[in-house]
Amino acid sequence: MAAALSPIDRAKYSAARRAVDLVEDGMRVGLGTGSTAAWMVRLLGEAVREAGLRIQGVPTSARTAELARAAGLPLTTLDEARWLDLTIDGADEFDLELHLIKGGGGALLHEKIVATASDRMVVIADLAKEVRRLGAFPLPVEVVPFGWQTTKALIEETLVSLDVLGRDVMLRMNGAQPFRSDEGNLILDLHLNRIGNPRQLSLVLNQIPGVVENGLFVDICDTVVIGHGDGRVEVRDIATGRVEEERIDIDAADNIFRDLGE
Ligand code: A5P
Repeated sequence: MAAALSPIDRAKYSAARRAVDLVEDGMRVGLGTGSTAAWMVRLLGEAVREAGLRIQGVPTSARTAELARAAGLPLTTLDEARWLDLTIDGADEFDLELHLIKGGGGALLHEKIVATASDRMVVIADLAKEVRRLGAFPLPVEVVPFGWQTTKALIEETLVSLDVLGRDVMLRMNGAQPFRSDEGNLILDLHLNRIGNPRQLSLVLNQIPGVVENGLFVDICDTVVIGHGDGRVEVRDIATGRVEEERIDIDAADNIFRDLGE
């Protein structure tokens, strides 16, 4: 079954597998959102069910909460846990300084709150997410529905004086309806092509009335685990500067693929 996975899924699986090794008994763990994080949730569920790992998870979206319950992961809320040992999440882009763009799945607000409330944030990704400069992936910005067109116009006006290449701002849709976040907010996708100064952009965007949060994660990610289609993983840590390479035995993963119903 593992062999039937696409190279990209094998890469995502490998990154998730390696990151799950960082989870220790008794930890409170932030559970990210997206297709890579979904592997991590399934693997943690397997460790809880089969190896007796005792953890409490804080999901970053309703989707992840549902998946985690199905996987048998004990959950709690951030208000209960207050502070987390570790968050593992995916990303849409990461750069050499491990700054991120997140929110492709629309969960950026809860993801940023949870990651910021963690001792350590580990990003799991395939190599395609690595960029020299952030911005090819449209930057998601969560805005309140009230007056959103005014907020959009203010964002467009603000972008003129910032170091970005593109300035198209699009309301994210879900079919014929605007996409709604778990908080009931709207998402504007900023097509910037290149972000010269992520820190400045993040600060400026969050000062515009109506903006709740943006998808730039600056100085939040500590470690990135990059998966490859052949099971190789690269672990990069920003604090130590260390880069480690390992190999995951993907073919030993048949249990979890069987759990998924093949
Ligand atoms: C969810 O809102 C996002 O931040 C995801 O973490 C990000 O889009 C990565 O998703 P994939 O793992 O599906 O690429």
